[in-house]
Amino acid sequence: MASVHIEAKVGEIAETVLLPGDPLRAKHVADTMLEDVICYNRVRNMLGYTGYYKGKRVSIQGAGMGMGSTSIYVNELIQTYGVKNLIRVGTCGAIQEHLQLGEVILAMSASGDSGANTAYFGVMHYAATADFELLFKAYNIAKELGIETHQGSIFSTNTFYDDNPNRWDKWEKQGILGVEMESQILFTLASRLNARALTILTVSDNIKTGAFSGHAEREKSYVDMMRIALELA
Ligand code: HPA
Repeated sequence: MASVHIEAKVGEIAETVLLPGDPLRAKHVADTMLEDVICYNRVRNMLGYTGYYKGKRVSIQGAGMGMGSTSIYVNELIQTYGVKNLIRVGTCGAIQEHLQLGEVILAMSASGDSGANTAYFGVMHYAATADFELLFKAYNIAKELGIETHQGSIFSTNTFYDDNPNRWDKWEKQGILGVEMESQILFTLASRLNARALTILTVSDNIKTGAFSGHAEREKSYVDMMRIALELA
C-alpha cells in the first residue's frame, strides 16, 4: 500500500527519517553518506531514500518548504509507514545578533503562525516541543563530534516575505533564536501521532545583521548538521 504522496511499499521506509526541505539534498546525502540505498519515492520529484549509515537503517525524505508541504509528508510517514523518529535538517534566519552563519541550532520548541494550530486548537496555543530524548542525544553527539550547538526556541512561519521590517523584534526580545518554516507543524503532528521529532538547523542568514551565507559556508555547515542527524539515527 502507498500513501497519497509517497509511492513506497510499507516496510521500505526506516523507523527514523531525516527530513530536509530540498529533495536534491536528500539525494545528495543518500549518494554520499549512505550505503545500500534504494529510492522509494519519486512522486512530484519529492525524493525519498532508505539506506544504511554505519550499519543502521535510516531514510531521508524531501519534505518541501512550509508547513503545508511538511504536514503532508509527516502525516503520511507516520500514519502509513509507521515512522517513529522524524528529524528535520534545514536552515534558518537567525534573529539574535550573536548567532553566526553556519552555527548549528537544536530546536527545543517552535512558536509559529501555523493555521493548523488554529484548526486543531481554536484560540488556544499548543506549545510545539521537540522530543527530549532526541534533543538530549543530539546535544551529546554534537559535543562528542566537537560541534558547538545553540539550544533554544525557534519560530516557524508560513510567510517568508512580509511588509513589516520590524516583524521579528518582539520575537527577538522573547529570546527566539531563528526563523524557519516547518518545525511548529512537525512537532505538533509528531506529538498527536505518537512519534518523536527534532529539528536541527544551521544559520543560513542573520535577519538582524543582514549577513547571508555563500555556497561554501552552507555546504560546510550542512555537513556538521548531517553528521549530528545521522549519528542520532
Ligand atoms: N525566513 C524563513 N525561513 C528561513 C529563513 C528566513 O529568513 N532563512 C532560512 N529559512
